[in-house]
Amino acid sequence: MTSPLPYRVGYGEDAHRLGEGRALILGGVPIPHAERGAVAHSDGDAVLHAVADALLSGLALGDIGQYFPDTAAENAGLDSARILAHTLGLVREWQYAPVNVALVVTLDRPKLGALRSDIARSLSALLNLPETEVGLSFKTSEGLAPDHVQVRATVLLARVEG
Ligand code: C5P
Ligand code: MG
Repeated sequence: MTSPLPYRVGYGEDAHRLGEGRALILGGVPIPHAERGAVAHSDGDAVLHAVADALLSGLALGDIGQYFPDTAAENAGLDSARILAHTLGLVREWQYAPVNVALVVTLDRPKLGALRSDIARSLSALLNLPETEVGLSFKTSEGLAPDHVQVRATVLLARVEG
């Protein structure tokens, strides 16, 4: 399973409603002092969901819902790092590897700037990429979507030999 293209670009996005009594986890990092967290069947890590979807879209392999249905009981509370690990396994089978990722996280509160390097470090470990290849932008919705966290992710995939 492979493709003749030396590079492929992928794009993914994910959004979750914010609710009381839930942890907010972004890129594998629990966000301290978040008043609300993502309401989701899994752990609701919208960063990892968007990155996994970007990887799958880059190879035209569909989206994470096909591999981890949010109706399946066994996926309740699922650690999204497992979703990403499974996705990276498919990427390897197709003989590609991520080169760099660029993300935009839209969240009104809390501010994430102080956690930028923590999230980048976590993503770089999960993706086996240098931290310098993980770009993170944080945006508010300017009050237009105060009850959501939304993430958009692009990834460049390079073909690897063998
Ligand atoms: O969305 P806006 O342009 O108003 O964001 C202003 C600044 O706030 C940006 O520099 C961004 O990095 C930061 N920010 C943040 N955490 C968020 C949203 C925005 O640190 N949740
Ligand atoms: Mg999600």
